[in-house]
Amino acid sequence: MKDNAICKLLNIRYPILVGGMTWVSEAVLAAAVSEAGGLGTIATGNMPGDLLRDEIRKVKTLTDKPYAVNLILLSPNFKECVEVVKEEKVPVLTLGAGNSGPFIPQLKEAGIKVVPVVNSVALARRLERSGADAIVAEGEEAGGHIGDTATMPLIPQMADALKVPVVAAGGIGDGRGMAAAFALGAQGIQLGTALVVAHESRAHDNYKNAIIKASDRSTGVTGRTINKPVRALKNMLTQEFYTLEEKGSPWEEIEGLAIGRLRSAVMEGDVTRGSVMMGQVAGLVKRRASASEILEAMVEEFNQVMEKIGGFRIPAGGFPCEG
Ligand SMILES: Cc1cc2nc3c(=O)[nH]c(=O)nc-3n(C[C@H](O)[C@H](O)[C@H](O)COP(=O)(O)O)c2cc1C
Repeated sequence: MKDNAICKLLNIRYPILVGGMTWVSEAVLAAAVSEAGGLGTIATGNMPGDLLRDEIRKVKTLTDKPYAVNLILLSPNFKECVEVVKEEKVPVLTLGAGNSGPFIPQLKEAGIKVVPVVNSVALARRLERSGADAIVAEGEEAGGHIGDTATMPLIPQMADALKVPVVAAGGIGDGRGMAAAFALGAQGIQLGTALVVAHESRAHDNYKNAIIKASDRSTGVTGRTINKPVRALKNMLTQEFYTLEEKGSPWEEIEGLAIGRLRSAVMEGDVTRGSVMMGQVAGLVKRRASASEILEAMVEEFNQVMEKIGGFRIPAGGFPCEG
């Protein structure tokens, strides 16, 4: 493995992206990840264009390394943000929540590498045909808005179906997970939850502590009944969601419950009634560290795992056993 398609494509040292995380991923975290050798991302959520421009300019003062902006198709400011991204010559754009195909040609023309985040092989194929440079295949273990398929079955199906490189996201928290993603056919990984606790992340201490305290069963998925599944810490808010969903409440009421809740969790530390988005991998995240320490530890463990299992073989006919 002398070369790596993702490092080559994005001009980064490590094939590690840190995904856009609304409210969490702003300029400081994005720059820290890019300085550490990965690809940091500015998340936009529903951010207006002028605010995005400020964030992009801030990243440019903090690092000269490549970085990404994450846009959400459903945002009311999507088109305005596309213009800002083009004007500011952002090197990489990741796109979530829907079919970004129609926008890809103009972004490519502006010299931007386009990397959609998807959970379906059919959509990934369409986006590849539209010119996507790589695909982030995100399994339902991930924190935040999710699809239906888990990372383990999703990655090899994506790798088989696509010519462009696949980046695995969802459920990766250490070098073992990273090695597993590569074994499944990915050529890079995207992290979310594991970087929320980074020193450079602006998430409130309560949010970071909630991730550190989480176990394997701490997260739950709300919004399945309205086709907008979200994975977050199980708390009073998720309980309220389940109650409304069980009652069959109208979707406006269910969606309305979410308004402002991610912000209150990230910025004010409301981990009881806020939306504390985190992935199943939270149970594996046990200490705070800098973005650089997190990435370096992951790469070191990845290399150890590859060395350990690299020579492992099942003997012809299997292992000796009695009977
Ligand atoms: C708090 C939080 C907010 C997120 N917000 C976004 C977002 O705005 N756009 C997006 O494409 N993905 C978003 N994600 C998904 C991440 O970018 C990433 O793909 C995911 O967290 C990877 O899975 P993991 O959490 O298991 O590491 C978010 C995830 C978290 C935990």
